[in-house]
Amino acid sequence: MNYSNDSRDVAAVTSPGSIGSHSYEPGALRSALDIKQGGTFNLGALLCDRHCAQGRGEHMALIWENHTGLRKSFTFDDLRRHSNAWAHKLAELGVKPGDRVCLFVDRVPDLYFAFLGILKLGAVAQPLFSQFMADALEVRLADADTRAVITTGRHLEKVRSVRARLPALAWVILTDVKSGAHPTLVEGEVVMTAEEAPPVEFTPFPANEDTPSLLHYTSGTTGRPKGAQHVHGSVLSQYATTRHVLDLRPDDVYWCTADPGWVTGTSYGIIGPWAVGATQAIFEAGFSAQRWYEFIARHRVTVFYTAPTAIRMLMKAPPPTPDQLVSLRHMCSVGEPLNPAAVLWAERVMGRPFHDTYWQTETGAIMISNVPGLPIKPGSMGKPVPSIAAAILDQQTFQPIAVPGKVGLIAFRPPWPSMFRGYFKAEKTYQSKFVGDYYLTGDRGSVDRDGYYWFVGRDDDVINTAGHLVGPFEVESALLRHPAVAESAAVSKPDPTYGEVVKAFIVLRPEHAGSDELKLDIMNFVRKHLSPLAMPHAIDFVEKLPKTRSGKIVRRMLRAQEWGEPVGDLSSLDD
Ligand code: WT7
Repeated sequence: MNYSNDSRDVAAVTSPGSIGSHSYEPGALRSALDIKQGGTFNLGALLCDRHCAQGRGEHMALIWENHTGLRKSFTFDDLRRHSNAWAHKLAELGVKPGDRVCLFVDRVPDLYFAFLGILKLGAVAQPLFSQFMADALEVRLADADTRAVITTGRHLEKVRSVRARLPALAWVILTDVKSGAHPTLVEGEVVMTAEEAPPVEFTPFPANEDTPSLLHYTSGTTGRPKGAQHVHGSVLSQYATTRHVLDLRPDDVYWCTADPGWVTGTSYGIIGPWAVGATQAIFEAGFSAQRWYEFIARHRVTVFYTAPTAIRMLMKAPPPTPDQLVSLRHMCSVGEPLNPAAVLWAERVMGRPFHDTYWQTETGAIMISNVPGLPIKPGSMGKPVPSIAAAILDQQTFQPIAVPGKVGLIAFRPPWPSMFRGYFKAEKTYQSKFVGDYYLTGDRGSVDRDGYYWFVGRDDDVINTAGHLVGPFEVESALLRHPAVAESAAVSKPDPTYGEVVKAFIVLRPEHAGSDELKLDIMNFVRKHLSPLAMPHAIDFVEKLPKTRSGKIVRRMLRAQEWGEPVGDLSSLDD
């Protein structure tokens, strides 16, 4: 291994193009997926129609269960037919290729059918976490000029409350509603449930590897959330890593606990596993260790992909019974730092360790991981996957750091197939993510002598709570709408279960006095307007906030205080 300072040498530490029988070579990936180089294909059709054409139409694609115990299952042929129905319906409503169609639904089967249907039509899927409240929804729909929103009765009021301010939004499509049981609809609202729709054939839009597929909103430090634009060709990376890192094969039963409102739930909760042709088990229910173990046992789940917060919650609950996890053969984790204790606990109690994986909305696919067979160093994220050139860059010079263990910026050298192609209508922000030969992740870390990467923290003020990114600016904007709040700063605070939670420092308007009651009122205000994830778990009322000479609030000082890190000298602050 070479730790020379020359960026060329970093390429030398890039993993080879394949390990064992898994190739990362684009040509081999294309032929495995029946994609012709430079030719047309459609990701929606690739994920279901392709399996049917290959005689696997009767293979189980989706085993679905919800909190009431209702169970349904669907084959790849069901996926093909139901997604055709969605593509047809959207086309009938006048949705055109390239239009954004938002999925604002819980994990009901129609979410998956509609996702595939949107892609078949050549439209762009915009998944949003259904727990978002009206403010979070409005900002993202306005930014994307979204043409149609697919939702359920449960979330309809939120959509209705913002619709008048969204001129581009032509249709609200209610799904998962039995005929006749839907609420009174107003103009522009329609009902569509694929299982009840008449069968139709649909000719998929002839996309190519650069055709837009998904727009995933993610939070930054400043300004509004940004829509990371992905393309149909992302499947090359997702397929390769699903095979190689998640070790998934067509005969596996795979459970990814992530919601498709976030990128893990699409890249590895829809695209990767169905590109492989595996069976997905989906549990539309809140967390309960007991029910999770029962779910794994009932459906004989073989591969499990979840997040550290969920693992820490399992650790606090009674252990599984010896027979519950016998089907499991591989487990991976993503989204936040996986503490060494969680790896060791899993080995002892679940019979195998969690393999950490690291990536982002922007990378579209796993970039660093502990692949099967690589000895795990608990606390490390593992090594770059084959074909990915990773580096730790100096924070001032942006040159690769030569010294093992020295902390710098985690960066990757583009391109790779699943890389985002832009932030929607935010070209300058997109450009700011690239320096020299590298894409900057916004995370800090180090690499050791053996080439293992270690996560240290974010290089910005974004809060990672339970594996979900929350932008401080969005929280502060919501706080400002509360009548008692004059000024605020939202920062992360350590939390034993969620990793981090939101903490707000608030300067009250002169006519308001701080009280516990007011704290609760403000917490609830954020939960109801923005999202439960963004709700501050703690509030401090303060006289003033630390600011630079030009008046910018210095969140990092408040954050340092919360984490017990050196705060630095306030008086010398510049911009
Ligand atoms: C951010 C990306 C990756 C899909 C889900 C989240 C943090 C991600 C790890 C990990 C420590 C991690 C980083 C990253 N993160 N994986 N294994 N160890 N931190 O996607 O919402 O775009 O968040 O999550 O800070 O930049 P995302």
